Amino acid sequence: MQFFENESFYYRANQLFCENVNLSDLATEIETPVYIYSKTFFKNRYLEFSRAFSNLDHKIFYAVKSNFNLSVIKTFIDLGSGLDINSEGEFYRALLAGAKPENIILTGLGKTYEEIKLGVVNDVLMIKAESLDEIILINEIASKLGKIANVAIRVNPDVNPQTHPYISTGLLENKFGLDEETALGIYADHNKFKSICFTGIDMHIGSQITSTAPFEDSVEKLSETFFKVKDLGIDLHHFDIGGGFGNQYLNEKVFSIQELANKLFPLFNKLKCKIFFEPGRFLTANGGIIITKVIYNKCNKTKNFIVVDLGMNDLLRPSIYTAYHHIQPLKNNLHKDIEADIVGPVCESGDFIAKNRTIELVGQGEYLAVMSTGAYGTVMSSNYNARRRPAEIMIENDQWKIVRSRESFEHLVFDEKEKLQ
Ligand SMILES: Cc1ncc(COP(=O)(O)O)c(C=O)c1O
Repeated sequence: MQFFENESFYYRANQLFCENVNLSDLATEIETPVYIYSKTFFKNRYLEFSRAFSNLDHKIFYAVKSNFNLSVIKTFIDLGSGLDINSEGEFYRALLAGAKPENIILTGLGKTYEEIKLGVVNDVLMIKAESLDEIILINEIASKLGKIANVAIRVNPDVNPQTHPYISTGLLENKFGLDEETALGIYADHNKFKSICFTGIDMHIGSQITSTAPFEDSVEKLSETFFKVKDLGIDLHHFDIGGGFGNQYLNEKVFSIQELANKLFPLFNKLKCKIFFEPGRFLTANGGIIITKVIYNKCNKTKNFIVVDLGMNDLLRPSIYTAYHHIQPLKNNLHKDIEADIVGPVCESGDFIAKNRTIELVGQGEYLAVMSTGAYGTVMSSNYNARRRPAEIMIENDQWKIVRSRESFEHLVFDEKEKLQ
């Protein structure tokens, strides 16, 4: 079978390590399934991103939705990152992790009254608006509070990002953003919104985009809109390209950030304003894995099944997107390969981590690593089947720390005992 390695997760003497920690040793000390993060990986990815765009006046806003563990958020804040926040809950987490509101942008297409108020009261750097109704509400809230809210409109450039339909957001058929004509109409009416200052223009065309072309096309299209807005007499300070930069999950071709920077630099240069980026997956996906234990091996007439203790409640991506996560043993015992479905214990046929996967035969009680799960892993987990969410561990060099414990049974019932009818 093939093994997936990077600078943080690699085999040493046939045992999988994260930085300088032997994960087989760690697995014996901790309940599985368990999420493992490499702090050094997160740092290196952030630095790679900021280096690629170092010739440009820019700011990175880490998209907290990809991994909202406080220690992960803090890792990026400590490097100087701003944050892209999508909800009250993410705002709460960001502040706890030490974020300053002036480094926060508030995104999301269905912001509630309370969420907008939170942004306005705290003077966030910018609220990204996605409808006229929202702009009217932001104006009303800011006016009541005696504030001026900085707002940018998310324009949908109608470009196909060539990704999974569930994570494609830049087509007019998608629910996100506003078409150019509607957006220009609102910018033209800017004087009607006395408590709003329009500071920028935004896009976000989807996630896991693996070719630079959709970004080039969208930036070109949105640049035209940007100049049309400037012609209306509005002094835009920023152009926000959003996130969506693809991650390599095995050996598929993905552009490097330097390649993207080389392609976009001439386009950005013409704008003469600050460029905002909102990367999530690019920064976190390959910096995390899950360790899971094999509970049973079984086969029926046509198929082998490896039943593991990791369910769709812990890692949803394979079930909802048939997303690929490479799976490999913590100890490479050089056993023969088999073809199997790797499935969880949840009572759904959709509860699988991989289908028809060639994998080294692993015995009951042995461990597997599910790779590239640092993004959209824990954040999408649930308590389905009354399963407790896994612990999360952060590793740096030869040190590992639990940065969130496995949920207890008390977490599962919350206040239901007191409310029992
Ligand atoms: C507005 C916005 N910005 C940034 C992101 C981060 O995307 P990614 O993790 O693909 O970089 C998302 C993801 O859905 C988003 O909706």
